[in-house]
Amino acid sequence: MGPLSAPACTLHITWKELLLTASLLIFWNAPTTAQVTIEAQPTKVSEGKDVLLLVHNLPQNLTGYIWYKGQKTDLHLYVTSYVKDTETVIAGPAYSGRETVYSNASLLIQNVTQKDTGSYTIEITKRGDRTEGEIGHFTLYVETPKPYISSSNLSPREAMETVILSCDPDTRDVSYLWWINGQSLPISHKLQLSKTNRTLIIFGVTNDTAGPYECEMKNPVSSSRSDPVTLNLLPELPKPYITSNNFNPMENKNVVALTCEPKTQNYTYVWWVNGQSLPVTPRLKQPGENRILILANVTRNDTGSYECEIQDRVGSIRSDPVTLDVLYGPDVPRIIPPFTQYHSGENLYLSCFADSNPPAEYTWTINRKFLQSGQKLSIPHITTKHSGLYGCSARNSATGRERSILTRIKVSPPSVRGRISGLNPI
Ligand SMILES: *[C@@H]1O[C@H](CO)[C@@H](O)[C@H](O)[C@H]1NC(C)=O
Ligand SMILES: *[C@@H]1O[C@H](CO)[C@@H](O)[C@H](O)[C@H]1NC(C)=O
Ligand SMILES: *[C@@H]1O[C@H](CO)[C@@H](O)[C@H](O)[C@H]1NC(C)=O
Ligand SMILES: *[C@@H]1O[C@H](CO)[C@@H](O)[C@H](O)[C@H]1NC(C)=O
Ligand SMILES: *[C@@H]1O[C@H](CO)[C@@H](O)[C@H](O)[C@H]1NC(C)=O
Ligand SMILES: *[C@@H]1O[C@H](CO)[C@@H](O)[C@H](O)[C@H]1NC(C)=O
Ligand SMILES: *[C@@H]1O[C@H](CO)[C@@H](O)[C@H](O)[C@H]1NC(C)=O
Ligand SMILES: *[C@@H]1O[C@H](CO)[C@@H](O)[C@H](O)[C@H]1NC(C)=O
Repeated sequence: MGPLSAPACTLHITWKELLLTASLLIFWNAPTTAQVTIEAQPTKVSEGKDVLLLVHNLPQNLTGYIWYKGQKTDLHLYVTSYVKDTETVIAGPAYSGRETVYSNASLLIQNVTQKDTGSYTIEITKRGDRTEGEIGHFTLYVETPKPYISSSNLSPREAMETVILSCDPDTRDVSYLWWINGQSLPISHKLQLSKTNRTLIIFGVTNDTAGPYECEMKNPVSSSRSDPVTLNLLPELPKPYITSNNFNPMENKNVVALTCEPKTQNYTYVWWVNGQSLPVTPRLKQPGENRILILANVTRNDTGSYECEIQDRVGSIRSDPVTLDVLYGPDVPRIIPPFTQYHSGENLYLSCFADSNPPAEYTWTINRKFLQSGQKLSIPHITTKHSGLYGCSARNSATGRERSILTRIKVSPPSVRGRISGLNPI
């Protein structure tokens, strides 16, 4: 027998007792008919109470009995035995301290626990005859405890979160049943039971799957139901959006107030500018728990993409971005290239640039008289008569501002060498 080597065997049996037990076992042989019957008294056993497993139809001329906790007559399942001749009781590895075997083969189990639930086997050995022996099986059920429902999350976000309910405590040899709203569970892809039915997974909880849930434990002697549990749904976070008194403010002129809608009590508001959470600066005022963002004396540097986000204990959601397009300028224009000395015959190509939003409109003047409009001035083959005071003026029609700059350009007469070579063609 394999279990002889199991360490548990040494707990309660001496080698001498073990040999005796083994000799008892040799006499047993598989019965053809199971005349021995076992009855539990009382039939309904509650935890903490005692139960007597009464054995009926005992055969004659017995040498002893062995009780096992389980279906098999394995030595490591051996609880206790009784040897008739010597009136000795020998405890086995599976003895818990709460079992008593009587001379009439009955087994008393005191202070029953859920762990005592399950199969029991009695093996009855007879004198002198190796071919005869009796075996009896019995399944003991302990009354189911009152179950309770444990939830992975009692306040899930509506339609977003998955919740796992389990029917506790984990109990042997019971089947589990679930109820929603007093009805058995509907077939739904949103509800999934585990293999044992002990846990229930609810996908994307909505108000029709929020409960109340009850679970039931059932075995052949009893059944019990939990108290109902209803999930407290957190409403879906609404997608926020931004409103503003002015999406196209003028630099250093307008005060911009951005407001994150909707207004609700239990949310936190967070602002994002160009994908970065808003830096804290004294210039930005955030009254009303950050729901309103005030940009005092807006500058071109405030131009950008703004988002607001609402957060609660469980989640967050961001608005679509809005663009704040600050109108500014023009700044003082620059003329490129900045040279002022030219020779006759050269080309005068000038560009004017002034930072402005929207882009500036440009006009060129010479000696304060209108020359042309457009950003580029182009006069090929200039002569001395092109000398003068050139002006570029930039105007932003949105801000109504105009800035200009003047530069004096001097065109020198053609060089003598150039003129001679010009006068003496080959
Ligand atoms: C019991 O054993 C005795 C002798 O050991 C024998 O005479 C008797 O017939 C046996 N009874 C039964 C029912 O086997
Ligand atoms: C066996 O003995 C116990 C304890 O004395 C007793 O309570 C029980 O009724 C007996 N069983 C049978 C089947 O006689
Ligand atoms: C049964 O349980 C009670 C309380 O837990 C304890 O006082 C008593 O000793 C136990 N009896 C046995 C036989 O284990
Ligand atoms: C789980 O419950 C279903 C009905 O809801 C039942 O058909 C099935 O046999 C149960 N499974 C177990 C292991 O109890
Ligand atoms: C679920 O919510 C919808 C809309 O919010 C409502 O019309 C419906 O009555 C609710 N159902 C239950 C079972 O509460
Ligand atoms: C805000 O939270 C309180 C308790 O935390 C709750 O009673 C109230 O209904 C919530 N208000 C909103 C608008 O969700
Ligand atoms: C805005 O700028 C103007 C002039 O640039 C200044 O007088 C005023 O105090 C500024 N306002 C704030 C709120 O900074
Ligand atoms: C904008 O930011 C740049 C770089 O940080 C800074 O040099 C400039 O002065 C700012 N302009 C305004 C109008 O605040």
